[in-house]
Amino acid sequence: MPDILEKTRLPFNQLGVSSGKEIEELFRQLLEQANQDAKSIVDSEGLEEFRVKWLGRNKGICQRVGDHWLKTAPQEMKKWVGSNLNHFKDSVEAILGYQKTSIQTLELDQPSVDLTLPGIKQTLGTLHPIRQTMDELERIFLSIGFSVVEGPEIETPYYNFEALNIPEHHPARDPLDTVYLELPRGAPGQLLLRTHTSPMQARTMEKQQPPVRIIVPGKVYRRDNPDATHSYVFHQLECLAVDTDITFCDFKGTVEYFVTQFLGPRVKTRMRPSYFPFTEPSAEVDATCLFCDGKGCTKCKQSGWIELFGAGMVDPAVYGFANYDAKKLSGFAFGLGVDRMAMLKYGTDIQTLFQNDVRFLRQFQ
Ligand code: DAH
Repeated sequence: MPDILEKTRLPFNQLGVSSGKEIEELFRQLLEQANQDAKSIVDSEGLEEFRVKWLGRNKGICQRVGDHWLKTAPQEMKKWVGSNLNHFKDSVEAILGYQKTSIQTLELDQPSVDLTLPGIKQTLGTLHPIRQTMDELERIFLSIGFSVVEGPEIETPYYNFEALNIPEHHPARDPLDTVYLELPRGAPGQLLLRTHTSPMQARTMEKQQPPVRIIVPGKVYRRDNPDATHSYVFHQLECLAVDTDITFCDFKGTVEYFVTQFLGPRVKTRMRPSYFPFTEPSAEVDATCLFCDGKGCTKCKQSGWIELFGAGMVDPAVYGFANYDAKKLSGFAFGLGVDRMAMLKYGTDIQTLFQNDVRFLRQFQ
């Protein structure tokens, strides 16, 4: 191919350009040259070189050719040369644009990663210690024939108190201890955030005939100020078993089995008399202190025992609310604090369980 760039340095009249044909041919050849150049571009550096060579503001070919030919063209052809120049420049820009997109896709396809560098560590999320504790408790109860049910966190006073034999003026119903919801003026009844998971006792018995063997894990709410052992939201797990022939032995056996499964075979349990309106007799279940093996330490206030949860044989009055025949049935119930169990097992205070500090949570992976 004749050196077309050489020709562009000739003044217009020396090109022998008498008709437009000749100069159109020159533009065509120039464009061919630009296309040839573009083919050898392999990376973004090549793109930049091409841009400077063809479209550079000062010494780019388009600029130089334009300046030169417009200067040397006869007056009557200047307009025609100008519009050809514009068209030529647009074509070169299009070539560059096309080349740019193909190079960019090429560069994207290629891994721009240095495989010899150490990788970025992806931290894997894990189950929260409370969830882990819940799962473990559920696994133990499922293995002895209980099933899991869940209930609403927004409750009526009826299920939260009445149906559990907690009368109108009982201190537990005090608005200083319970979160009552503000309802629109004139709304019938009251609603509250459940203070325990026990409301599911009546809700389950209303729907289901005995035998009943359920556990109820879930969140509960109290108007407590946060400290090392209190939080206004925490987790409980309720347990209820009702059948025609359930004895105190079944109750004690189930409690012992579950506690040793959860806290380990070395742990012993005991029951102390207590009072709950919905159980008779009621008991407080203690375990030998995990920190000193029952010898006595600061954690157990030197007693060797740690209080675990409240429990008892279901008070016959509770059956009345579910239309169960109290004469034919017996059962037991207990309600334990899941967070408390996690605190005992992992030796931490309740606030750390709710602060979402990953430095703490990472220990439980
Ligand atoms: N609901 C009681 C509380 O939150 C715990 C409890 C005690 C549940 C005795 C029971 C029970 O089922 O029998 O303090």
